[in-house]
Amino acid sequence: MYVASPERYDKMIYNRVGDSGLKLPAISLGLWNNFGDVDLFDKSRSIIRRAFDLGITHFDLANNYGPPAGSAEENFGRILQKDFKPYRDEMIISSKAGFYMWPGPYGDWGSKKYIVSSLDQSLQRMGLDYVDIFYHHRFDPETNLEETAHALDLLVRQGKALYIGVSNYDAEQTERIIDIFNDLKTPFIINQPRYNMYDRWIEDGLKDVLVKHKKGAIAYSPLAQGMLTDRYLNGVPEDSRAAREEIVFLNEEKVEKTVERTRRLNDIAQKRGQTLAQMAIAWILRDGIVTSVLIGASKVSQLESNVEALDNIDFSDEELKEIESILTEKM
Ligand SMILES: NC(=O)c1ccc[n+]([C@@H]2O[C@H](COP(=O)([O-])OP(=O)(O)OC[C@H]3O[C@@H](n4cnc5c(N)ncnc54)[C@H](OP(=O)(O)O)[C@@H]3O)[C@@H](O)[C@H]2O)c1
Repeated sequence: MYVASPERYDKMIYNRVGDSGLKLPAISLGLWNNFGDVDLFDKSRSIIRRAFDLGITHFDLANNYGPPAGSAEENFGRILQKDFKPYRDEMIISSKAGFYMWPGPYGDWGSKKYIVSSLDQSLQRMGLDYVDIFYHHRFDPETNLEETAHALDLLVRQGKALYIGVSNYDAEQTERIIDIFNDLKTPFIINQPRYNMYDRWIEDGLKDVLVKHKKGAIAYSPLAQGMLTDRYLNGVPEDSRAAREEIVFLNEEKVEKTVERTRRLNDIAQKRGQTLAQMAIAWILRDGIVTSVLIGASKVSQLESNVEALDNIDFSDEELKEIESILTEKM
């Protein structure tokens, strides 16, 4: 039987999400990879247990996580049932809808039909009555934004979601949906964009919008799927994401393009007495705008090491300048 560590709240930092009542851990855990039916259940289970013991209260899912799609929610539901029944009120569980999930015209994008049905399916897979945060996963250029916003608002009124978020919405799309949510009084609190040293698009307007409207941000793929770690400094290991054939979003070619820059960033991290992964996480938290860094982990050891990033999240001006010059240099 799993009993959570009594020390779980001793070290983790909890940041308020915008001006809402909710706090999230500075490091959250995502279940996009490593929790599907293609992965070993006991390994997934040990990662979730260890995360909770380290003060990670927030677990991020989506309808399509796996592979196969849906299996991450199912496996997470089994883990909740086995280990976390006494701890539900200490957990923030999120899910999303917005990408392809089932065939036909109602299993994708942003219609009310899709969003409402999808959350019902997610709740069933996880064995939950409600999620804490429900996200629209991507902006739908063909559906009236009011319809999407009303669908999300309805889920809160029905008690199936406590808070609402959007993901991958740019600055302008975020402002538009904030206007609608303000009229509806929807508890919209957060945007979930990709953000890491190699992908800084949110610095071009979105960060400002979130600050202006007092909303939170949770940065996904903070380690660029592993490229901002020491994982690929000496080739592509067999068990890595870039080598796994069932995972199509990272491959050897992508890794090779960044490895030189990664080496130089690794040197700075070493000078700071950190791993590169730890420095990459700290860098995201450097200006206090991002509420939480949403990491992935394929091993308990990665998780443990990444959480130690919080031991040093301060940067000298010199370090920031040096990092900036590496990131902006043409290579
Ligand atoms: N909203 C969206 O559209 C969206 C999109 C993508 C992700 N997300 C969310 O963000 C979460 C995190 O995304 P991500 O998995 O891409 O994040 P990430 O933290 O950038 O990458 C995680 C991967 O990096 C490697 N890694 C982690 N720590 C390491 C360490 N200390 N040393 C060496 N390698 C390490 C592992 O890869 P190996 O497998 O090689 O060990 C791990 O699976 C997802 O689970 C999901 O919840 C959201």
